[in-house]
Amino acid sequence: MDKLDSFHHDVLRGLNDHPKWLLPKYFYDDNGAALFKRIMDMPAYYLTDCELEIFRDKTAELADTLCAQQEPFDLIELGAGDAMKSSFLLKHLVREQVDFTYMPIDICGEVLHTLRDRLHGDLPDLTVVPLHGEYHEMLREATEQSDRRKIILFLGSNIGNMELEDAHGFCRTVNRRLKVGDTMLIGFDLQKNPHTILEAYNDKEGITKAFNLNLLERINRELDGDFNINAFQHYQTYDPIDGGCRSYLVSLTDQEVNIGAEVICLAANEPISVEISRKYTPLEIDQMAIETGFAPLTQIADSKNWFVDAIWHVN
Ligand code: AVI
Repeated sequence: MDKLDSFHHDVLRGLNDHPKWLLPKYFYDDNGAALFKRIMDMPAYYLTDCELEIFRDKTAELADTLCAQQEPFDLIELGAGDAMKSSFLLKHLVREQVDFTYMPIDICGEVLHTLRDRLHGDLPDLTVVPLHGEYHEMLREATEQSDRRKIILFLGSNIGNMELEDAHGFCRTVNRRLKVGDTMLIGFDLQKNPHTILEAYNDKEGITKAFNLNLLERINRELDGDFNINAFQHYQTYDPIDGGCRSYLVSLTDQEVNIGAEVICLAANEPISVEISRKYTPLEIDQMAIETGFAPLTQIADSKNWFVDAIWHVN
């Protein structure tokens, strides 16, 4: 199936299901990526600043923990983007003359070109091997390319966008690709005051609302849909018991929406589930490591203790 067919297939599957859902990975067309940049700039969206602070202020601690074995390795970043946070680590490792290759994986080829050119200018001594494609497929390619030790970075609380079961499945799949001595670093957003979390996803400026509604606009643009954006409301919840922060688009009226030749019926007040941004406790993070085949080594937190980068080993 090509990309457009998968999008079409997933959208119809979700909108014909009960309750209805759409997959958050489809947020990120050009408009969605631009809106996500604006979200990351919002003061209320603390996640980016917290993890940036860890990479900026605790670079040596991160490097020492990741490179304790002192053997050459491949540093593989899943969903590298502009590598804003990891650049602190890359600079440190190059300065320390550590023998490693940086392998950024991203679904967007353009992003990888820009990143490679920037790193070439900023860190001419760094070997960069960009891998363009889906995480698991590119991870397979990376592990087949060399026998060197692997260090995987999965930053930004992207793991939070998976349901618990899927997050476990994801970690297990990565674990199966790795060998004894390899390491995985994952960025987790921690459970904290529920208001702080809710405000990060429910901004008054309406940027998160626009980000979510862009998914319907994308369906209109790419799949010949006719969603009336004004007939939907953004609704955000946070459950401080289970850590689930969930986004919904709620239909304001009884309505029919055409997507190509298909007709989707929505009742007034019917929700479409569009995203989970799960928040974890430090204990849950360690448990996830153990249940998916890793040994939890440490968790490095920001100064507010709102976010951690968890480091797991393969023993
Ligand atoms: C990409 N991801 C980690 C973001 C999050 O916090 O779940 C996506 C996002 N959705 C709304 N705001 C940010």
